Amino acid sequence: MRVGILTGGGDCPGLNAVIRAIVRKGIMFYGYDCYGIKNGWLGLIEGKIVPLDLNSISGILPRGGTILGTSRTNPFKKENGVEKIFSNMAKFELDALVAIGGEDTLGVAYKLFQQGLKVVGVPKTIDNDLSCTDYTFGFDTAVSIVCEALDRLHTTAEAHHRVMVVEVMGRHAGWIAVMGGLAGGADLILIPEVPFDLDDVCREIQKRRERGKDFSIVVVAEGAQPKENGLITQSEERDPFGHVRLGGIGHYLGREIEKRTGLETRVTVLGHTQRGGSPTAFDRILATRFGIAAIDLVREGKFGMMVSLQGNKIVPVPLEKAVAQLKTVDMELYEIAKVFFG
Ligand code: F6P
Repeated sequence: MRVGILTGGGDCPGLNAVIRAIVRKGIMFYGYDCYGIKNGWLGLIEGKIVPLDLNSISGILPRGGTILGTSRTNPFKKENGVEKIFSNMAKFELDALVAIGGEDTLGVAYKLFQQGLKVVGVPKTIDNDLSCTDYTFGFDTAVSIVCEALDRLHTTAEAHHRVMVVEVMGRHAGWIAVMGGLAGGADLILIPEVPFDLDDVCREIQKRRERGKDFSIVVVAEGAQPKENGLITQSEERDPFGHVRLGGIGHYLGREIEKRTGLETRVTVLGHTQRGGSPTAFDRILATRFGIAAIDLVREGKFGMMVSLQGNKIVPVPLEKAVAQLKTVDMELYEIAKVFFG
């Protein structure tokens, strides 16, 4: 059996741990030949496929990024993209594919499965917005980075009596903002799921001053929307999956808060630091469990499935269900965060 592995979409700490687990179990337990496909779906279209042996996965467990490279290529938007994928699967004699990715990569995997591709999915995204799994790997690392940043920003905000606005990732869902903000003691958390009113935000900040606290930490997800303006974007240009490039809400908010309250305000955009570097122990273990479960699904011939975490169990779920809709923030959790607002 020859198994291809690809990583698609935005990178995420833990990708290498998944690759390592698939290759290790595939070779050592099942005697499979494993192949790495470079740069997501693009490598399968272009035929950029390399053998992966035990040496190629040695030492990669703690490494961020992906040894395979990634891209946001959508084969359905490329001329003959889908045909080239099937012809390269045949040319390189690949019997099965493991696709590691988020909503876009796994959405493509599902459509190709419907056309006959033998594919298994592994859920990846720092945003934690994939359905049918309690957590995706990479998310815990991102939350830890936000938490550490908030601890650091607290001391400088307090010393200068400032409002500190911290923009974090989260395109459609505010999981990183809520969990990072909870862990780091944010005074206000703004998320895409709940459009906000700027005057309410300023009122919360002022209420805190009246209570005698002369600094504030405001966490805002990049996809959070002010009621009066809608989504703030860096450019209108769309990627092959139709997403605009987000970013800018933090600076917009900072400017408005300073203007409306007269309080000195600073803005920190954590950006890609949330996606870089070494995965946490939690993410290394989750990614390893996902990789093992994925190669087991290949062995059992259970294609069109995605591995998922439910409670503390790794469970296969149909890709169709996983990509049907995004998993937005649990409002019960947001209510807990709100207890500490203002
Ligand atoms: O999809 C994960 C994510 O980290 C989003 O939160 C963010 O909007 C996007 O990726 C950024 O992507 P890029 O790496 O293309 O800037």
